[in-house]
This record gives sequence, structure tokens and C-alpha cells, in this order.
Amino acid sequence: MKSSLLSVWTAAIFLALYSQTVRGKDCVCELKNAQRPFPMKQLDSIHTAADRCNRSITSTQLTEVDVLMLGVQRRLDQLENSVSVLENEDDGDLYGAVSLRIIELELAEVQVLLGKLKNTIRSHKQLSEITATKLQNMTEGMQELEAFDRLQVVSKQRENRRLMKELAGCQHELQATPQPPTPQPHCPQGQLVNVNGPRIYSLTQHGTSYSYGAWGKDPKPAPGKEDMYWLVALTSSNVYANYVRHYSSLSTILVGVGPVDTTIASSNPTTNTIMGPNVVQYGDALYYGCYNSPSVCRFNISTRSVTNTPLPQNSGFNNKFPFGHLDATYIYTDLDFATDESGLWVVYTTPDNFGNVILSEVLEGSPPSLGRSWRTSLHKRTATNTFMACGVLYATRFQDKQTEEIFYSFDTETREERYDLKIHLKKMQTNIQSLNYNPRDRMLYAYSDSYIVSYDAVLCSCNR
Ligand SMILES: *[C@@H]1O[C@H](CO)[C@@H](O)[C@H](O)[C@H]1NC(C)=O
Ligand SMILES: *[C@@H]1O[C@H](CO)[C@@H](O)[C@H](O)[C@H]1NC(C)=O
Ligand SMILES: *[C@@H]1O[C@H](CO)[C@@H](O)[C@H](O)[C@H]1NC(C)=O
Repeated sequence: MKSSLLSVWTAAIFLALYSQTVRGKDCVCELKNAQRPFPMKQLDSIHTAADRCNRSITSTQLTEVDVLMLGVQRRLDQLENSVSVLENEDDGDLYGAVSLRIIELELAEVQVLLGKLKNTIRSHKQLSEITATKLQNMTEGMQELEAFDRLQVVSKQRENRRLMKELAGCQHELQATPQPPTPQPHCPQGQLVNVNGPRIYSLTQHGTSYSYGAWGKDPKPAPGKEDMYWLVALTSSNVYANYVRHYSSLSTILVGVGPVDTTIASSNPTTNTIMGPNVVQYGDALYYGCYNSPSVCRFNISTRSVTNTPLPQNSGFNNKFPFGHLDATYIYTDLDFATDESGLWVVYTTPDNFGNVILSEVLEGSPPSLGRSWRTSLHKRTATNTFMACGVLYATRFQDKQTEEIFYSFDTETREERYDLKIHLKKMQTNIQSLNYNPRDRMLYAYSDSYIVSYDAVLCSCNR
């Protein structure tokens, strides 16, 4: 628009000059320009203002409120859940008191989130008021400038565009066929946009004895075991375990009463016992790295029997390719198991993938086997943990003692890799030894220097 106005303007001057000079030899002519010169400066300043305006509103700001709203909604759902647990469990005594305390903590979290939401909405309101004033000013400025468009180039162009659009609209209506059904997104939950919490933060019955372990809830529980929590502490050298502990409810794991231990083998370690902390329970079976073997082990909790399947040749085990940060590693984290909406996964690596993460499906057959695999460019040593949600692999790194950052994602559907996620996890202890997502309650379960911690995963099928 700037250039078309200018060219019309220069062409007009040129024609005026030309016609005056060629007619008479002695004729002296004065060029009288009836028009005011085109105010280039004004156009430039509007342009700059528009640019600044554009930059002050980012798409991140626009999704901020949505993300906070989703977070509040998640917490309210959980609050409702906890209240019904309290109603069912209330013995007027111990469990009742624990449930009540959980609800108090949740209320406090909801209040914090609401406070954040209020602030964000206030600052957005200010921003939109300022922007509206600026837009009004720019519109007026442009209307003034249009007065220079004597030949009505711009207004004619605009009229043309309008007609073209109408024409296209008409054609479209004529050809309109029934809409094809929109394809279902591969996971209705969408992608991870935020993590709130911690929601639960507690020592276990073991106290501070074992700093490596894992805990969670079975996302595909056996009937009657829906409320159960499982806990595995690496009770030998921070590396090995030979039993899994179950609690009937959240209150009982927090208070540390009435656990049921199921033993995999009587000694620790021995063939087919647990090696490394990144264990998960899925479909009433425990999946973990087999002792001293590059294999996936499955412990059937009801039959107490172990079956296994080997990883591809040369896959790292026995502390060859652990997770890490700076100069430290999380020992024996060669294998990392994960659960999500589509099932069960294992993360590991091999020398021929240069120590970069490989992701494989774990199929539940008997014995278990590996399904499809994906090779990523994420160097395993640069991540502290990985987990899956909605078919997307996420990786964390150590930011500082208070913060773990979810920085990386790999979408198994599109193979898109991102290294710019910046979703923060508020830590209560320095290290997170295991981290897993439960698609059933959409929580992240972490084991952090002997503490069990959980977080709300906020997923959104919005574009980001
Ligand atoms: C405003 O920003 C968007 C996205 O960054 C860009 O596509 C668009 O061209 C910008 N508009 C102006 C007037 O700078
Ligand atoms: C509009 O913007 C111009 C240039 O920035 C400024 O000089 C003028 O005062 C503004 N007018 C209003 C009504 O804000
Ligand atoms: C565990 O064993 C039982 C009995 O054989 C079987 O029905 C069940 O499918 C097994 N679970 C898994 C996860 O293999």
C-alpha cells in the first residue's frame, strides 16, 4: 500500500513536469502542486506502531489464561474426588484426618491458581485497553493518509478485493458438498501445556532410608484394585529391589499403614529381580529392567511369576547409559518404563544410536514383546527423566534445586521433535529418580530423594 501510493504520486509529478516543458521553448513554467506532499513520516510511524502493537501481544499470552483455567478445572475435579474419598473413608479418626488435610492442601492450591488467574486476566485487560486505543489512533491515521489517494487506487483495490471475495464465496456455496468427517486427533487429551503442584508430597513408611524408587497407581487396574497405590523402593545399594508394596488408598500410603508386600524372589538381587528405579505397574503387572540383563521383565502380580523379553542387541544396561545432569548420573537408569493413553513404553539406548534415546512400545502378550520403535536425537545423558503422555515422549532436565524443566518432546505420530518446551516442575527435593504419567488420573508420579510426589498434568488439544 505504501509503495502503490508512492508510485501513483511520483507518476503524477512526472507527467505534470513533462507536459509543461516540451510545449514551448521559451516558456517558463512554474509547477504548482495543489496537493500537500505525501506525509511519509506519518505512514512510517503508523507502521512502527503497528509492529510494536503486534509484538506486545504474543500467542503465549493468549494461551496463558486458557492454560490456567484448565489447571483450575483439573484441581476442582480432584477436590471433588477427594471429598468423595473423605465421605467413603471417614472413620472419624485417622483416615478422616488425613483426607481432610489433603483437602485443605488442595483448597490452598486452588486459591493460589485463582490468584494467578486473576492477575493474568487483569494484566490482559489492561493490555487490551491500551491496544484498542492504539488501534483506534492507527485507524484514524490511515484514514487521513487515504485522503492522499486522489486517484482512489487504494479504495478501488479494496472494492475489488471485496468483490473477489464475494465471488469466491458464491462459487464456494455453489460447489458446497457435505463436510467430510473431521479426523479424530490421535489423542483427545492433546499435548502437555503445564504441570501444577505438587499435590502429594510425603515420606513413605521407609522414611529416608531409600533414595531411589518409584510409586504410582496402576492405569489399568485389576477389578477391585482401582484405589490401590504401589511403591517400589530400591532397598539394596540404591539399585536393586525384590518386592513391590501395595496400599489400599492414598491415606494409607501417606500414613504408612497396612501395606501388602508381594515378593518377586527371596533374595536381592537375583535373576529377574528389579534393577533401576524406573519401574511402572500396568495391567496388574510390574514392568522393570531385569537384574544384570538387557531385558524387560514383567512380574505378574496375581500369579507372582516373571516373564521377560530382550532389548535389541547392545542396548545399554548395568549403568552403561543412565540419565544424568552436569557431572552426576542417576545410577542404573538405563531403562525407563512409561505408561500413557496408548499403553506401555520403554526408553533406552544403544551405542549405534550414539547414546540417543530410543523409544519402543511394550506389547502385553505372553511373554511381553517389543513393538514399534523410534530413534530420537535426544542424548540420554542430557535428560534426567522421560515420560509419555498421549503418544508424545517428554524429557526433563535439571534446572536448579527447586526446578526441573520439561524441555523436550517427541511426537510418535508426526516424529516432530522439540527442544523448547519450558514447562516447569516445582521440586521439593533436589533430585527426581523416577517420573511417570498415569493416563487414568492424568497425574505425574515422582520419586524424589525418598519422597513420593505427585503433580497435575494439564493437557490441552489447543494449537501451541
Ligand atoms: C504480526 O505477527 C505475526 C506473527 O508473528 C506475523 O505473521 C504478522 O505478519 C505480523 N504483522 C505485522 C503487521 O507485523
Ligand atoms: C496518535 O498517535 C500519534 C503518533 O504517535 C500521536 O502524536 C497522537 O497524539 C496520538 N493521538 C491519540 C488520540 O492518541
Ligand atoms: C497374569 O497371569 C494371569 C493368570 O495366568 C493371566 O490371566 C494374566 O493375563 C496375567 N497378566 C499379565 C499382565 O500377563
